[in-house]
Amino acid sequence: MIEVLDGKRHTVPPVWIMRQAGRYLPEYRETRKKAGSFLDLCYSPELAIEVTMQPIRRFGFDASILFSDILVIPDAMGRKVRFEEGRGPILEPISIEEVDGFISGNAEWETLAGRLQPVLEAVAGIRSALPDETTLLGFCGAPWTVATYMIAGHSTSDQAPARLFAHRHGEAFKAMLNVLADRSADYLVRQFEAGADAVQIFDSWAGVLDPAGFERHCVGPVKRIVESVRARIPDARIIGFPKGAGMNYRGYAEKTGVTAIGLDWTVPPGFAQELQKQVPVQGNLDPTRLVAGGRALDEGVDEVCAALGSGPHVFNLGHGITPDTPVAHVEQLLKRVRG
Ligand code: CP3
Repeated sequence: MIEVLDGKRHTVPPVWIMRQAGRYLPEYRETRKKAGSFLDLCYSPELAIEVTMQPIRRFGFDASILFSDILVIPDAMGRKVRFEEGRGPILEPISIEEVDGFISGNAEWETLAGRLQPVLEAVAGIRSALPDETTLLGFCGAPWTVATYMIAGHSTSDQAPARLFAHRHGEAFKAMLNVLADRSADYLVRQFEAGADAVQIFDSWAGVLDPAGFERHCVGPVKRIVESVRARIPDARIIGFPKGAGMNYRGYAEKTGVTAIGLDWTVPPGFAQELQKQVPVQGNLDPTRLVAGGRALDEGVDEVCAALGSGPHVFNLGHGITPDTPVAHVEQLLKRVRG
């Protein structure tokens, strides 16, 4: 995986799956029950290490991803987060009147460090538990995607509340993204120091912005994170995942400085190959092919490998694995990719 991120092509691509520790695994559901709440699981190093290791033990993926969530950053910054069964994350929506307080109250990393310490302990514990050849990925959410949840207070289908907030309160919104970028950069640096081999920045909602919004709210803050991390860790390997970016994938790596880009499943093969001439790419099987299994899965895997196999490629889905995915289909995927 590291060699591929450094630009080398492997005949058999390294493979991991976004959300590989999750509800499709019976052993995850078991540990999750013991933990109580989802955030208790994220903030308990032993349990976080255990669920991170579960898919590695079962499938032998080439990379492992820290078990946590992108919303631990707002949670640690005082915007309390909880997760409700069937509804996802719930936050008290931040109002324009609260933005100044949010920014000034979070000038220092020290304000977050206490709350996030268990996550960094988990990173160190996972690194020692992993086989040497398995890459450990840390991660954070991109400021835009994190802000969408802080503003709406829950999942929405199009993040209209955050888009509207950005148009109405441009300056305050920019300041909010900057503080999120700075704290996220600190957080990623700590993850590297604790043992992460590379990190991924999840911009899951990059696809809902207009072109000017994409430049301002996705490209700008991610560039700020990359520059800040590299000022402290010059050779930091960073995967950018601006899901749904469409034509905006063009130039994204050059503008932000990310090492590699994650592609969602809508990116056409010819366009993906063009992007792969600039940087290594990761992706991009449609997750519903993994749910379907059978020929839909085999054909999908073959198409992805045919499209991306002639350059540096990390095999992955185009977004996270869903809870309704049969475990046997993950085995089928690995057999097909590695065969
Ligand atoms: O990939 C992994 O195995 C590592 C763990 C991980 C989780 N969330 C665990 C999780 C990672 C990398 C994330 C990132 C994340 N979290 C993103 C970006 C990636 C993406 O999927 O777009 C986002 C947008 C979030 C915010 C979030 N967390 C939402 C919207 C939800 C609810 C939706 C859902 O799938 O239920 C979560 C909950 C969550 N995060 C779960 C897991 C395993 C399921 C909750 C549970 O187990 O009860």
